[in-house]
Amino acid sequence: MHWATILGAVCSLTAVSAQDDTYSPGVPPSPFPSAAAAARLKIDPQTACDTANNASKPRNVQLAAWVECQILAFYPYPRGDDPANTDWIAGYEDTFHPSARLSFNGTRFNRDGFLQLYKTFSSSIGQNFAQFQQFRDYYVASPDSWNATSIGGTVSAQGFNGGIFRNGITLHAPNAAFITVEEREGRRWITELREQSTLMSASQLPKDGQLWPCNPEYEVCS
Ligand SMILES: *[C@@H]1O[C@H](CO)[C@@H](O)[C@H](O)[C@H]1NC(C)=O
Ligand SMILES: *[C@@H]1O[C@H](CO)[C@@H](O)[C@H](O)[C@H]1NC(C)=O
Ligand SMILES: *[C@@H]1O[C@H](CO)[C@@H](O)[C@H](O)[C@H]1NC(C)=O
Repeated sequence: MHWATILGAVCSLTAVSAQDDTYSPGVPPSPFPSAAAAARLKIDPQTACDTANNASKPRNVQLAAWVECQILAFYPYPRGDDPANTDWIAGYEDTFHPSARLSFNGTRFNRDGFLQLYKTFSSSIGQNFAQFQQFRDYYVASPDSWNATSIGGTVSAQGFNGGIFRNGITLHAPNAAFITVEEREGRRWITELREQSTLMSASQLPKDGQLWPCNPEYEVCS
């Protein structure tokens, strides 16, 4: 069944290149920009958790909505004025599988190490920002293609993080993530998160991080 779709796409490509035989890199000619834009998901944070569990929604929407729901639960900015607010740790533990491989900019972390990193971020955000948010402008989500009922897949997200400092100055910086979601024990877990942020940080990450948990199914773990 997929072949018909792929052939259809190839025919449309042929038709476009017949109209315009000079190829220029960048955004392809109409109608592709609108089709591509429609495949980029915007997830409403207010309804993300409900959407994640709504089997009537398309699988890619459910998958991206689950990531949005979980990010809201673990993103370590203090809720309210209490910089010691640690409610997000429960969300963190509910999101990341114990075997998770995580990175921030170029430095690798295991699940415990990444939690320690987020604790330092949380404390520094609490001390410096009056308001802090992480926005994901859009998601690209690809559910597992090899299993039509699997709730796992891969997800990319882009947006901004930042906020308003206590002195009133605002600061926002691009933030992006590549996320692998796997179905284990009948539920979703993030097993890999590669985050990158250009938000200036006073405490730079170490170059060398932690050894990632080895998966003997695919790797030589000696
Ligand atoms: C689930 O999604 C469908 C399709 O978008 C929608 O009609 C329905 O109201 C949603 N159900 C809930 C409980 O949100
Ligand atoms: C496909 O997904 C279903 C439900 O998510 C799961 O029960 C089943 O074991 C999966 N099949 C394979 C071959 O992995
Ligand atoms: C991540 O990289 C950006 C861009 O080089 C840099 O501004 C930022 O401070 C880095 N973050 C950390 C925590 O090292």
